[in-house]
Amino acid sequence: MTETSKKVLLSGIQSTGRPHIANYFGAMKQYVDLQDQYDSKIFIADLHSLTTVQNKEELSQNTLDLAIDYLAVGLDPKKVTIFKQSDLPEVTELAWIFNCITTVPYLMRAHSFKDAEAKNKEINVGLFDYPMLMAADILIHNSDIVPVGKDQKQHLEIARDTAEKFNRVFNTDIFKMPEPYIVDSVAIVPGIDGQKMSKSYNNHIPLFSTDEEVKKLVMSIVTDSGAGIPVNVYNIHKLFRDEKYLDKLYKEHEGKYKALKDALAEDIIAFISPLRARREEIAKDPEAVREMLKNNAKKLKLEVDEMMQKVREAVGL
Ligand code: ADP
Ligand code: TRP
Repeated sequence: MTETSKKVLLSGIQSTGRPHIANYFGAMKQYVDLQDQYDSKIFIADLHSLTTVQNKEELSQNTLDLAIDYLAVGLDPKKVTIFKQSDLPEVTELAWIFNCITTVPYLMRAHSFKDAEAKNKEINVGLFDYPMLMAADILIHNSDIVPVGKDQKQHLEIARDTAEKFNRVFNTDIFKMPEPYIVDSVAIVPGIDGQKMSKSYNNHIPLFSTDEEVKKLVMSIVTDSGAGIPVNVYNIHKLFRDEKYLDKLYKEHEGKYKALKDALAEDIIAFISPLRARREEIAKDPEAVREMLKNNAKKLKLEVDEMMQKVREAVGL
């Protein structure tokens, strides 16, 4: 298959802090696994991050860090175009156009908004409008598939609705329908308390943790006091070992929670150590990483311009 005939894969993660193992298994691993098959574009959603991170040093450091993380987990910069969202500001123009064809009650149904509201958070307009910017991210690049964790499924549906609505309102076929790519077994990776792992629940195991951090976090995995299988330990362990191996191990150590947690910590450490070492290597040359981001944005600019020309024309701008 030639480069141009490959389908487009697009995804991004916000630069809101250190990624954790659920980000890896739920999303990043799919980017790596699919990088040969697709024309892959993976970005750092720094404009989305601005809805929560409002500190100059923190945001720019997080952004560089995430670019390094992407490389460290095995994205090959020769195969994947890694870029920074804000380097292509056309996406905000497209989000604006989408805003104008989307109703407030429709966006009020977004889980992200409802969760924030349920927690009585002060909701900025950016957070409310988050799904429109995400739709623009996806649609501006003509994406075919979008690998994400299950928590993003509704956002993908919104992107599809928006593509459909735009095409209908402006009587065109500019936007194609993107498909979510969600791997069932890791659709919702649990955290150390058994709830969905998330930075915001503070129940996560950072992907580039030190050995000490891993041990401490694993020891704090919530277990019930009864004998039998410690479900929360087992469910995290499943990410690192096959079930046959685990069933034997958990049977042999029935009721011995400490031994099982030690075994899990050892497996996580064995998985993380080489990633961490690679990350340390890449982090020695931040200029090279910044340069990569800049060059990739330049490369994508032409495609994005072409798409926006069509959009402006269709809308009458
Ligand atoms: P967080 O909830 O920790 O802030 P993000 O929203 O930054 O995570 O998610 C980045 C990517 O990782 C998204 O594709 C998201 O669906 C995926 N992801 C996050 N948490 C999980 C989880 N617990 N299980 C599976 N995938 C997840
Ligand atoms: N909302 C996604 C998250 O929190 C990040 C994101 C922004 C994204 N734009 C996107 C993911 C476009 C996939 C495609 O993880």
